[in-house]
Amino acid sequence: MTTMATTYNLLALLTLLALTFSAAVKLRHSAIVAHLRNISDPDVIPLPDNNDSPLNLQLALSLEKILDVDRERNEIEVLVVQTVTYNNLALAWDLNKEGFNATGVTLPYWYLWLPDVAVYNAVSSPKVISGDVVSVSYYGFVTFFPVVRVRVWCDLQDVDSISGANCSLKLGSWTQSSETVSLFDLGIYFHMSQYLATPNYEVLALSATKHSKVYPCCPESYEHIEFSFIIRKQDQPVEAPEEENRSEK
Ligand SMILES: *[C@@H]1O[C@H](CO)[C@@H](O)[C@H](O)[C@H]1NC(C)=O
Ligand SMILES: *[C@@H]1O[C@H](CO)[C@@H](O)[C@H](O)[C@H]1NC(C)=O
Ligand SMILES: *[C@@H]1O[C@H](CO)[C@@H](O)[C@H](O)[C@H]1NC(C)=O
Ligand SMILES: *[C@@H]1O[C@H](CO)[C@@H](O)[C@H](O)[C@H]1NC(C)=O
Repeated sequence: MTTMATTYNLLALLTLLALTFSAAVKLRHSAIVAHLRNISDPDVIPLPDNNDSPLNLQLALSLEKILDVDRERNEIEVLVVQTVTYNNLALAWDLNKEGFNATGVTLPYWYLWLPDVAVYNAVSSPKVISGDVVSVSYYGFVTFFPVVRVRVWCDLQDVDSISGANCSLKLGSWTQSSETVSLFDLGIYFHMSQYLATPNYEVLALSATKHSKVYPCCPESYEHIEFSFIIRKQDQPVEAPEEENRSEK
């Protein structure tokens, strides 16, 4: 009997907690999220209204970790945070409107249009290992920042030379030409501020370059950004400290 009562009390408490939490979660930012879901069409590229200009897309990459260096196959696997941003003024909201007092919200990515960014030189399907959310700011700035595990082809022949091997990740829209989606040409968007060191390899330099390519099929050009990094094998792995001379002579 006592056990039964305790169980009921516990259930009541849990139900109460659940209600409290869901109410709290629902209230916060819910008006903005409902509004964004209502007005957004994930299948339509949010092209700017003025003339025929393309949507400007910013691609940035943060090198997080070297996961594998396979010299026999000439393949390297890395963990990166890929940041995709663009501006869609139609999503902006007025902070003074009731229930809209938040400078940013996050919502599942499938409610918004996102470019089909691909890693052109991947040798297997990149794996997104983070959550599925996009953040939207009150002035219509959309940011998608998945953590991606990706394996690319790279000539690793010189990885143990002084100069090291030059590997790169080529990222761009898979199907949209520069008439609809154009990439910002800003070489500073490759960094390793959150990099976790690997014992046997060191990263010497990073660079990012924009390329524009025309294919035999079509007159329009397609853009991608080549994010390059120099990787070198460390000849002297960190040595164990010398043992102290204990014997006194
Ligand atoms: C969604 O849009 C419709 C039509 O524009 C409007 O009547 C409705 O109030 C909107 N709902 C929300 C939650 O914004
Ligand atoms: C939202 O409201 C709070 C309290 O009313 C205020 O302190 C805060 O500055 C407001 N935030 C924005 C972004 O307007
Ligand atoms: C590595 O390769 C890229 C792309 O070809 C090039 O832009 C970059 O300058 C190279 N880096 C070095 C240090 O040679
Ligand atoms: C230990 O003793 C050896 C031989 O006497 C000497 O060469 C070496 O420098 C000493 N190492 C340390 C850490 O004192």
